[in-house]
Amino acid sequence: MAALTGRDFLSLADLTSEELSQLLTLAADLKSGKVQSDRPRKILGLLFRKASTRTRVSFSSAMWQIGGQVLDLNVQLTQVSRGEPVKDTARVLDRYLDVLAIRTFDQAEVVEFAHYADIPIINALTDQEHPCQILADLLTVSEVFGGLEGLTLTYLGDGNNIAHSLLLGCALAGVNIRVATPPDYVPDGDIVLKARAIAGDRSEVIIIDNPQEAVEGAQVLYTDVWASMGQEDSAESRIPIFEPYQINNQLLARADRQAIVLHCLPAHRGEEITDDVMEGPQSKVWDQAENRMHAQKALLVSLLGE
Ligand code: CP
Ligand code: NVA
Repeated sequence: MAALTGRDFLSLADLTSEELSQLLTLAADLKSGKVQSDRPRKILGLLFRKASTRTRVSFSSAMWQIGGQVLDLNVQLTQVSRGEPVKDTARVLDRYLDVLAIRTFDQAEVVEFAHYADIPIINALTDQEHPCQILADLLTVSEVFGGLEGLTLTYLGDGNNIAHSLLLGCALAGVNIRVATPPDYVPDGDIVLKARAIAGDRSEVIIIDNPQEAVEGAQVLYTDVWASMGQEDSAESRIPIFEPYQINNQLLARADRQAIVLHCLPAHRGEEITDDVMEGPQSKVWDQAENRMHAQKALLVSLLGE
């Protein structure tokens, strides 16, 4: 079993390649029933400053299924919304909970929570990263292709939190990654450098602006919304800029014949992905969404230890 006992999970770069691989194996074993896990009633807190369906519900179901309990810490009903400092909130919640998942804007906030709380802090999405999502994505790709090393994944769209965690996760797993974005929407340079350092000679990390070139022969095409939570004001103006990056049947035809299509969801059909691709035979988005629960179950089991 992967032993991440007591650690934080703020970025995919918090894992080694071996730990990521052990976590994905544990997720597959929990999913198939090969490994059973029923734990004493540990408590997971959810502190979400942004909306969520999948992350909130899959974390809750996973925690209940492993014998734990969940406290949904509604931001509006706690002193968090009235500005109580993170360093105070973190030290108090640390005394009540066994693990805390946070969805917020600034990565610095989850880092500060992790600094002041001894319990594991999980990044449940920030503007910078969405590491839990990418655990599920890699599990899904691995189920379809029977492994990860040497495959090519092309992400099309905004160089956002999903792109960042994919860069790190693919580098850790030996998956070649191509990130295709409009020139003004490239991923963060430090994360690209980190991904290249992790990948070394094992896999490629390519940032590109030509979507046709980016998808050529790829086994996985992946997209996300063009305007993330918090960017609603620029949603309209982004549409013409991102249009060439839409996953549609023409673009999909340039990928590997066996290629699958992933989307973290929620999706805007007709923008970053067409309805026929979402509903088509190459789409694995529902398995991908299911795998959020299995991957996070493995993460919780690993972080909470024996
Ligand atoms: N993919 C994802 O994180 O979905 P939610 O925003 O619904 O949690
Ligand atoms: N990039 C999206 C992901 C949603 C799961 C956002 O941050 O809104």
